[in-house]
Amino acid sequence: MTIKISVAAARGVEFIDSQVQLSGWVRTRRDSKAGFSFVELNDGTSLGNIQIIVPQSLPDYETIIKSITPGSSILAEGVLKASPAKGQNTEVEATSIKLIGGSDAAVYPLQKKGHSLEFLRSIAHLRVRTNTFGAVARIRNTVSYSIHRFFQDNGFIYVHTPIITASDCEGAGQMFRVTTIDANNPPRDADGKIDYSKDFFGKSSYLTVSGQLNVETYCIGLGKVYTFGPTFRAENSNTSRHAAEFWMIEPEIAFCELPENMDWAERFLKRLISDVLTERREDIEFFNKTDSTLIDTLNHVVASNFVRLTYTDAVSILEKCGRKFDYQVSWGIDLQSEHERYLTEEHFKSPVILYDYPRTIKPFYMRLNSDGRTVRAMDVLVPKVGEIIGGSEREYRLDVLEERMREQKLEIEAYNWYADLRRYGTAPHSGFGLGLERALMFITGIANIRDVLPFPRTPGNCDY
Ligand code: 4AD
Ligand code: MG
Repeated sequence: MTIKISVAAARGVEFIDSQVQLSGWVRTRRDSKAGFSFVELNDGTSLGNIQIIVPQSLPDYETIIKSITPGSSILAEGVLKASPAKGQNTEVEATSIKLIGGSDAAVYPLQKKGHSLEFLRSIAHLRVRTNTFGAVARIRNTVSYSIHRFFQDNGFIYVHTPIITASDCEGAGQMFRVTTIDANNPPRDADGKIDYSKDFFGKSSYLTVSGQLNVETYCIGLGKVYTFGPTFRAENSNTSRHAAEFWMIEPEIAFCELPENMDWAERFLKRLISDVLTERREDIEFFNKTDSTLIDTLNHVVASNFVRLTYTDAVSILEKCGRKFDYQVSWGIDLQSEHERYLTEEHFKSPVILYDYPRTIKPFYMRLNSDGRTVRAMDVLVPKVGEIIGGSEREYRLDVLEERMREQKLEIEAYNWYADLRRYGTAPHSGFGLGLERALMFITGIANIRDVLPFPRTPGNCDY
């Protein structure tokens, strides 16, 4: 009997001496003078390949072997054997090989030599066949599953918040407009401006920057909830850490104040990292070859207690540290990546949770402290990436919320539904947002967000 198995399964010892069938994509082929060819096959189920030994005695050896080039897809049958070679448990002694889809070696873009990440971005449809992007994809999958397991294990309800929205959660005006208006012939109002009341929804609408405001409504009713979906920001900042489309995980917890919110964020991040360390060991060890401090750093984060520090104390550390920053530090500024990285990488050498930020630099929904000048915001900072999580305790007092909305020149009417949560059964509640790609950058050590997204969208780039 022939058993159909994956490359990952074939690399273990479970099926030794069985007649097996494998299919996948050829990475390399080497012909030896001793009457064999060696084919390295990968099917995406693991980083490592399985070696298939093709004897020249196979009846159609000459035709088969010429067509088995890098990138081609094949179906191989044979006996799985314990391998005498170093670095592999098993190998397949082929009894038959079928070419499924050929790949012209002269033009196949993925040659055996290593390619730069920049080059691979230009062939995003093929790059998943490389070690790096296969590993990123598997880790992204494991992290996503781990996110759901963490929240489900802790009694959270998964809520699907809308992608199209009429409100700007972060108040930063970085929204992509959603419209069906004909750009060449838009309806106009009496002042000659485009009349969005004639648009599809009868008003302006946008792609969401965050599911938070919507998920808060479910929190005030279900208690512990989370949303996990794509979010969009028309930030024109061409950095290695910002994408126009990214995935965010946003839990929201009722009857929860800021310190407990920090506990949740810390436990959550540690769980994701420790799940990847155990479940994707081979892929993580691969990334550890590029950055030999990676596994140590991840283990350290899982074992450490995150430093907790107010924004005010952080500013005073930065002012006194004697370092020349590009952007000068003073109380009230929005901390830049260079400041965040100094704190987490050099000063504390550990993840840091900064909290109690100036009210002037944070959105309207954050709870005002009794000092009147700071809000109960928190950012989790990690080495190399900087801000990985942003969150806060929410303002649950109606009068203060409305004062903050006026201060930030929001149209109070439009947020009436949000204010209702404070009118009927208001409760302290808190939440945060983890950027999935920032988490993946931290876990893999990959420095550019474009390389942890399957199809990155950044200013000027929307291919595929
Ligand atoms: O700090 P942010 O803007 O917070 C919020 O959106 C809140 N509504 C979250 C909440 O309290 N429910 O974004 C949260 C996280 C950041 O810490 C960062 O990890 C990620 O989202 N992020 C981005 N990731 C990639 N590209 C961008 N342009 C990002 N902007 C934010
Ligand atoms: Mg933030």
